[in-house]
Amino acid sequence: MYLPQLLKKAATGEKLVALTCYDASFARILIEAGVDILLVGDSLGMTIQGHDTTLPVSMTDMVYHTGAVRRGAPGAFIMADLPFGSYQASPAQAFENAARLLAAGGNMVKLEGGAVMVDTVSYLTQRGVPVCAHLGLLPQSVNQTGYRAQAKDDVAARQLIADARTLDAAGASLLVLESIPARLAAEVSDSLQIPTIGIGAGLDCDGQVLVLNDLLGLTARPPRFAKDFMAGASSIKDAVARYVISVRNGEFPAPEHCF
Ligand code: KIV
Repeated sequence: MYLPQLLKKAATGEKLVALTCYDASFARILIEAGVDILLVGDSLGMTIQGHDTTLPVSMTDMVYHTGAVRRGAPGAFIMADLPFGSYQASPAQAFENAARLLAAGGNMVKLEGGAVMVDTVSYLTQRGVPVCAHLGLLPQSVNQTGYRAQAKDDVAARQLIADARTLDAAGASLLVLESIPARLAAEVSDSLQIPTIGIGAGLDCDGQVLVLNDLLGLTARPPRFAKDFMAGASSIKDAVARYVISVRNGEFPAPEHCF
């Protein structure tokens, strides 16, 4: 699938369902269960590699896992994270590394940050690289923020709205909103042309994303916004299908998953 088909789907009002995916076996199962976007997230630094943060993940790791996911799901829409240190230095550095992820099988890259990333988003999108921006809790900035909900006061909320609008205008095609108040995510989603994908950002985003390992109940201390869909499911595919249905019919996230 390519970006225009995905955006067409979002334009009909159907919620986009995304899930992280790191290998070929899961890629096949997730697509069979109805997931729209496979995110090769740099969360693999924690889920696969056992680090405390996403910071040690390298471009070599991301290329390897993106290739594996592509081989497992040849027709899927695959978003791949640009890891920490692979894009912040300059737009040219970002393009060089984004090109490696697209060559490995990605359809789109995701990068973290607000106004500081506008030139990079514009540079990439003018050169054939679809970009998903990411605001709110930025795991690659954990050393500055820790892992906690963001944009809870009015000044930070206004800044996030301004950043979202600028990234939209710069050419981003999707925006991930992580761990922000649900009413702020609703306001951002209303005010943008592009679809928003929430994780800990309430029900009113245009789609949802979760970390696969959280959904499967494999995480020792899951974040508040996660739900274990394995509970009561008959198989991994059934658990993922329950997530897909819950997002599409507006049952997930529930109030207890929101800020
Ligand atoms: O890497 C990842 O899993 C992510 C999600 C938290 C959106 O970026």
